[in-house]
Amino acid sequence: MGPIMGRMRKATRLWSDPESRIAARHVMVGQEDSRGVFRAAPREWFGRYAPLEVEIGAGKGAFILERARSFATRDFLAVELPLSVVRVLAARAGRSGLPNIRVLQADARSLVGFLLPESTVSVYHVYYPDPWPKARHAKHRLFSPHFVAGLARTLVERGVVYVASDVKPWAEHIFSALELGGFVAESEQVPGIVAAGFGRKYAAQGRPLFARAFRRPSAARRPSHGP
Ligand SMILES: C[S@@+](CC[C@H](N)C(=O)[O-])C[C@H]1O[C@@H](n2cnc3c(N)ncnc32)[C@H](O)[C@@H]1O
Repeated sequence: MGPIMGRMRKATRLWSDPESRIAARHVMVGQEDSRGVFRAAPREWFGRYAPLEVEIGAGKGAFILERARSFATRDFLAVELPLSVVRVLAARAGRSGLPNIRVLQADARSLVGFLLPESTVSVYHVYYPDPWPKARHAKHRLFSPHFVAGLARTLVERGVVYVASDVKPWAEHIFSALELGGFVAESEQVPGIVAAGFGRKYAAQGRPLFARAFRRPSAARRPSHGP
């Protein structure tokens, strides 16, 4: 059985358990409103005003669940795209009983590009984003100038992006895309380098890992896109 089939079977098994489904529904956000319009409204999702950390491509939640447990005064949004992954992530997040975590099924590029309100995110975590090395798959890549501009738009003043990858050319591409977007590299320490699910696996295999923390450009230094 391939990894995708295995993942789908696991999600189906988990989803057939009513307790998992109920737990998952407590943390899943972002349903359409009564007019069928999707709104990203983080403050409403958490019912309070606290610093918001967003993990893009959270996988099964190894990193963000631990982080939410450690920082009770912060809110955490875990974003994933395929339904099979979202179900596992939401069941785990719901069963954790943590009050400060929510799960959203979305393409992070739309979320960051135009759905999230301006200046709402304190920290983005992006660990081991898929590199999509083949040219014909390039359209699936996360990092583009538009995505980087979205990160800058949605981050608060002094907001941070943490990134890690095991693929050197992809890491270099991401780092230079962020720098071109006005972000300032601050450190090679990121909280999820080993704590993220893939990070744990890669570190155990002894693979070199490439990580960096970037600070949001101040409003004056942000490159302008378009006329
Ligand atoms: C290599 S995995 C890493 C998962 C997790 N960060 C970890 O380290 O265990 C990349 C994840 O990004 C998710 N992903 C890819 N493109 C995405 C997108 N456009 N929006 C949201 N999630 C995405 C995939 O579904 C996948 O779970």
